Amino acid sequence: MLNVEQAKVICRIEEQKQLAKQLNLTGWEKYLEEDQFVDEKVEVFKILKLDQLPSARVLDIGAGIGHFGSLCKHYGHEYLGTYFGRASKSVIPFFEDAGLKGTDCAVFPFQDKVIPAGPWDCIVMIRTTFELNEEWATEDWQELVQVCMDNLTPGGQLLIKSNLAVELKRKYGRLETQCHERMMAAFSNKTPLPQWSWATWHWVKE
Ligand SMILES: C[S@@+](CC[C@H](N)C(=O)[O-])C[C@H]1O[C@@H](n2cnc3c(N)ncnc32)[C@H](O)[C@@H]1O
Repeated sequence: MLNVEQAKVICRIEEQKQLAKQLNLTGWEKYLEEDQFVDEKVEVFKILKLDQLPSARVLDIGAGIGHFGSLCKHYGHEYLGTYFGRASKSVIPFFEDAGLKGTDCAVFPFQDKVIPAGPWDCIVMIRTTFELNEEWATEDWQELVQVCMDNLTPGGQLLIKSNLAVELKRKYGRLETQCHERMMAAFSNKTPLPQWSWATWHWVKE
């Protein structure tokens, strides 16, 4: 399996730093400057065994600048990453640079959860931020997981790694605690993955 230096080459980190500079694309610097974000994707890749699976169909909801997609592409998987709204303008150049497919997808509280139609072999959500919202309830997590399961192949995998887990700096105060509690309540019958923190879950569809 890849180490972080190899993954950075595959994710075109140095080229994308130049791209960001040329196009004055701000907001994604930490994903290009800090190894932990590439390393995290390598770790998710290992959990899903995507380095061993032959040609899987992978959906990455809230894909950022697509680095998980570059790893998928390297291993011959079919990848679709999602972005949404005005932020799309700042991520599409990175998708184009990496030769990745992307599409719009947004999920909100009080709205039906719609994701790009499967069947997918893997769906990942890595530190998305839609849950960091006072209105995003336990039921929203449950609905979203159900929609994902409906769009997976038998044996397909869903991985959710919350932003709340990695950046536990209490920078959002009470809201962060509330969001943690809702997430825990949503999946109370399931044990979180131990290797990071309790806010990462992995499902395999029967
Ligand atoms: C912190 S970035 C993480 C990006 C990427 N998963 C990674 O780990 O590099 C948060 C991502 O969640 C997406 N996102 C935020 N709110 C969303 C919403 N309501 N619906 C769908 N995606 C959302 C953003 O567009 C962005 O891609």
